[in-house]
Amino acid sequence: MAASIDLADRRAAELIAREERFGAPNYAPLDIVIVRAEGVHAWDSAGNRYIDCISAYSAVNQGHCHPRIGAALVAQSKILTLTSRAVRNDRLPLLLEELTAYCGQEMALVMNTGVEAVETAIKLARRWGYRVKGIPPDRARIIVCADNFHGRTTTVISASFEEQYRADFGPFTPGFTIVPYGDLEALRSVLDETVCGFLVEPIQGEGGVNVPPPGYLTGAYTLSREHNFLFVGDEIQTGFGRTGTRFALDYDNLTPDVLIVGKALGGGFYPVSAALASRELLRLFGPGDHGSTFGGNPLACEVARAALAVTVDEELAENARVRGAELMRRFAEIRDSRIVQVRGRGLLIGIEFDRSAKPFAQALAANGILAKDTHERVLRIAPPLVVRSEHIDEIVAAFERILA
Ligand SMILES: Cc1ncc(COP(=O)(O)O)c(C=O)c1O
Repeated sequence: MAASIDLADRRAAELIAREERFGAPNYAPLDIVIVRAEGVHAWDSAGNRYIDCISAYSAVNQGHCHPRIGAALVAQSKILTLTSRAVRNDRLPLLLEELTAYCGQEMALVMNTGVEAVETAIKLARRWGYRVKGIPPDRARIIVCADNFHGRTTTVISASFEEQYRADFGPFTPGFTIVPYGDLEALRSVLDETVCGFLVEPIQGEGGVNVPPPGYLTGAYTLSREHNFLFVGDEIQTGFGRTGTRFALDYDNLTPDVLIVGKALGGGFYPVSAALASRELLRLFGPGDHGSTFGGNPLACEVARAALAVTVDEELAENARVRGAELMRRFAEIRDSRIVQVRGRGLLIGIEFDRSAKPFAQALAANGILAKDTHERVLRIAPPLVVRSEHIDEIVAAFERILA
């Protein structure tokens, strides 16, 4: 047994060395080499089992290697995978109809990664600003929030507040104004006739699981009606049941003018993202104005259809609400002077410490729980939405052990 663990450790060390030699160092992962995963669990090269509370940042809401999504992927991979949009394919119409119905929007533009859907929404808001609102050429502004995370393309980091995302990557795309998150007056103070959109996460995931004060999102939406700009909701991390409802904006009964989704739409198998809006808005894009070789390919469509079906049929939002409330309550009951706050919604939970959260993430990993620190002092706990009560017990027990 000892010999085989030693061998597995050596194998892991060898893989890590290879990755560091040939791969760009743009991540600082935990030195755990995952080789297999199923449901809420992942296994490393030494055979250790973990409960995955990272869930690829909400991209595996449905659980790892969900058999129904996997079957859809395999079946479609034998029929038709990629056509480009130069011709039509028989899967895209089905996804469009099902996705718009689920999201309560009229039309969708399908892309691949989350940031591409954000870019789509930015282009859409700008075009609406010029063609409908009548903003003078090249003057359109989009208001974004401090501590936002919308991705890392050059344009999207231009809207970022985070120095690390921006340092030595300029010059930046102009047209973004940053206001403090949760501060309605700050938003109001920057509004004028050049504003075409307000781009906001209903809960900031990467920013540290920041839940805005009650009434903020509704207030921002009301401002968007009064001052004629688009309310653009980025639900890439919060969507598809993560926060205990279909979308986090459902808590405020808000339907954004533009809804951005990604991550869990691909069921953990394949990158699928989309920007959704009314027909009036999305018809502002004409042929050739926007697109992507892989966007809306038949393989992606079948994966996304299965991912959506699993989300609905397995009542993942409901499970996230119940299990999330249970987990949050039990974390909140833990008395430890190092914990500043436990916050979140559904199964998107942040535990803020008075110090770096990294050592807590490392200690949790040694106790069979994968979790990731974010924004220095916050530990994000976001297991797949198929998590059950016994897993909640395990997560809490491990957490109590590392604090003891
Ligand atoms: C709210 C939000 N928007 C956009 C993105 C970017 O998505 P992707 O990494 O798929 O480009 C993320 C990723 O973490 C996100 O959390």
